[in-house]
Amino acid sequence: MYSIPGSTRQLDAESSRAVTAVQTEGPSPPAHGTSGHPLTVNEVLTQSQIESVMDELDRDLIGLVPVKQRIRDIAALLVIDQLRARIGLQAQSPSLHMSFTGNPGTGKTTVAMRMAQLLHRLGYVRKGHLVAVTRDDLVGQYIGHTAPKTKEILKKAMGGVLFIDEAYYLYRPENERDYGQESIEILLQVMENHRDDLVVILAGYKDRMDTFFQSNPGMSSRIAHHLDFPDYSQAELLLIGDRMLQEMSYQFGTGGRETFGEYLNRRLEQPHFANARSVRNALDRARLRQASRLFADRDRALTRDDLSTIESSDIRASRVFSPAA
Ligand SMILES: Nc1ncnc2c1ncn2[C@@H]1O[C@H](COP(=O)(O)OP(=O)(O)O)[C@@H](O)[C@H]1O
Ligand SMILES: [Mg+2]
Repeated sequence: MYSIPGSTRQLDAESSRAVTAVQTEGPSPPAHGTSGHPLTVNEVLTQSQIESVMDELDRDLIGLVPVKQRIRDIAALLVIDQLRARIGLQAQSPSLHMSFTGNPGTGKTTVAMRMAQLLHRLGYVRKGHLVAVTRDDLVGQYIGHTAPKTKEILKKAMGGVLFIDEAYYLYRPENERDYGQESIEILLQVMENHRDDLVVILAGYKDRMDTFFQSNPGMSSRIAHHLDFPDYSQAELLLIGDRMLQEMSYQFGTGGRETFGEYLNRRLEQPHFANARSVRNALDRARLRQASRLFADRDRALTRDDLSTIESSDIRASRVFSPAA
């Protein structure tokens, strides 16, 4: 589990890699729920600076067209909600709990962090941090341990977003006395009573989440937005690779990108392919091979180009290209 205090620092859940800050202190949230003179949409957008979060989302994340569109729709709903509240139209605090479904590495955690920023800028959560957990963080091993664990996490997440990865593991019908149920009950209450200060995002595989919702109508009814994250195409994965290399100050040498494209084609056919996460892992291994290659040449003065180039051979040395694979 990790948390991002005040959104000053973002952590990548899977790689524990610190990502440079996208947002430091947010602007003061617009008055939410108070009445005043009518505002334009632009005034709210300027006040909240959410456009920059949405632009960053568009720019930094490859593909995800349906997800980006849904986020724009949600943002529009919230902005209009604020304009309604200002002139005294009925506007109860909207339910913002969400489910993010999709295969591993499709960007769910990454988008959840952006969502936390967005909700913060619009004044729906006080702090805008993200606390990412799994079943083990919420559920105890022994009787009496679950409630304090779940409450502790909820306390940490209050004022931000609680991201529960593989949320369906909370529900284990095969075990009658499973403590997961206890955690679910507490979550349900807090999702209802503190929905003006805590947004819960349940994440995981689509089919398992569907089954989970069928067996937990209480949870299902509290989720306002279901976002489905599609697998990336090979072309998108290649662009994601470009982006990742660029962020790490590397580039492909002659033919390197083509080889990486070929690598992706092969890798896509294999089991356990995890979308953008597999791209990151593959590039990490290529960097290892590049380092070993450079390391072996003890007497050469290494130029900037040498140090930053991933050669085609660094990729081709992957097991994915060996005949046995
Ligand atoms: N659309 C994208 N564009 C660029 N990088 C991405 C994209 N989607 C995911 N990534 C990167 O891939 C990795 C895995 O993404 P993550 O959000 O952890 O996926 P998930 O939570 O769905 O398993 C992260 O390093 C993330 O930065
Ligand atoms: Mg994740």
